[in-house]
Amino acid sequence: MKVLSVKASKREYEIVLEKDFSRLSEKVEKLFHGKLLIVYDQNTHPLFSSDVKRQLANYELLEVILPAGEDTKNIENYVRLLSFLAENNFTRGDGVLAVGGGVIGDLCGFVASTYMRGITYLACPTTLLSCVDSSIGGKTAVNLAEGKNLVGAFYAPSLVYIATSSLESLSQREIECGLGEVVKYAFLDKGVTLEDVKNGEVEDLILKCLEVKKKYVENDEFDRGERAKLNLGHTIGHAVESLSGYAFSHGLCVAKGIDKIIDISCKFYGHSEEKKKELKALLNCKDFDLSIDFSKQELLSKIKIDKKAESGAVSLILIKDIANIEVVKMPLEKLMELM
Ligand SMILES: NC(=O)c1ccc[n+]([C@@H]2O[C@H](COP(=O)([O-])OP(=O)(O)OC[C@H]3O[C@@H](n4cnc5c(N)ncnc54)[C@H](O)[C@@H]3O)[C@@H](O)[C@H]2O)c1
Repeated sequence: MKVLSVKASKREYEIVLEKDFSRLSEKVEKLFHGKLLIVYDQNTHPLFSSDVKRQLANYELLEVILPAGEDTKNIENYVRLLSFLAENNFTRGDGVLAVGGGVIGDLCGFVASTYMRGITYLACPTTLLSCVDSSIGGKTAVNLAEGKNLVGAFYAPSLVYIATSSLESLSQREIECGLGEVVKYAFLDKGVTLEDVKNGEVEDLILKCLEVKKKYVENDEFDRGERAKLNLGHTIGHAVESLSGYAFSHGLCVAKGIDKIIDISCKFYGHSEEKKKELKALLNCKDFDLSIDFSKQELLSKIKIDKKAESGAVSLILIKDIANIEVVKMPLEKLMELM
């Protein structure tokens, strides 16, 4: 078992990495004695509910199963879960456990943050993306028709328990999605190396990524400065994701975005060919399909409506070097020229 401790302003919480769910009861019993609502999606329920329930047999448990996919992260399900808690007489001593990817995690975290002004939130992330990214840092949210993550709160979990064997059932698309974020960490910090990304054992790789994200979220919990660097590759990545009609996974789009950012950074900083090769080699170590079939005009039109484009300029996260990342406010004409 590996354990990482994360300090948030309201509490310090553990992220536990274990092969299976066998240590879940021990960890939960140390911090919680109320009743628990366990929320799954349709894919995670058949895979994990019997293991999770066996571990938590001493607790009064209720279960809700939601449809899988981004559409589930909506206000209707948020209200539905709040009502479910109220109808079942949940009080401040009770809690919510999310078993699933970032969708179930973001939704349950937000429910827990607001029900009776905050009840215990526990998480078992089961996608690579949620293990390395959404489960740490306390961002919770639901989407509105007007845009993603528009309603939410910063709310730290009390425990994150990762059973690494739960990742074995992930599709190739979901693995690639997580790897896009994993490779991002290798650009942010030397704590994740090319060798780790290429050949690392999964538990070790997840822990190394979490250690990088931990630094950012502990230094800038409420996302007012440094934490923005975690968005490396995301501005162009989101544009590709949206233009493709979400045909590609989020993480693959992040990798495509990082590829473009390498090109832009090389021109902006005047990097040598050798430096460019080094940066590209790191990105290419997982054989992502980095092609982008959209013109720079199409990309820019999406970037402009992205929330980061204010008064004709966009905040871009550029790569001065590996582990040397900079936020640069760039006029859109300059971006057009560099693209
Ligand atoms: N809070 C944050 O800081 C943060 C950071 C990054 C992303 N996010 C959010 O995370 C969400 C995306 O998360 P995601 O990529 O985990 O998507 P997801 O939760 O939709 O999961 C992806 C798919 O994998 C399935 N699945 C989950 N675990 C599985 C398993 N072990 N085996 C087989 N299938 C499994 C799900 O049912 C779903 O179909 C987005 O809503 C995004 O906004 C939040």
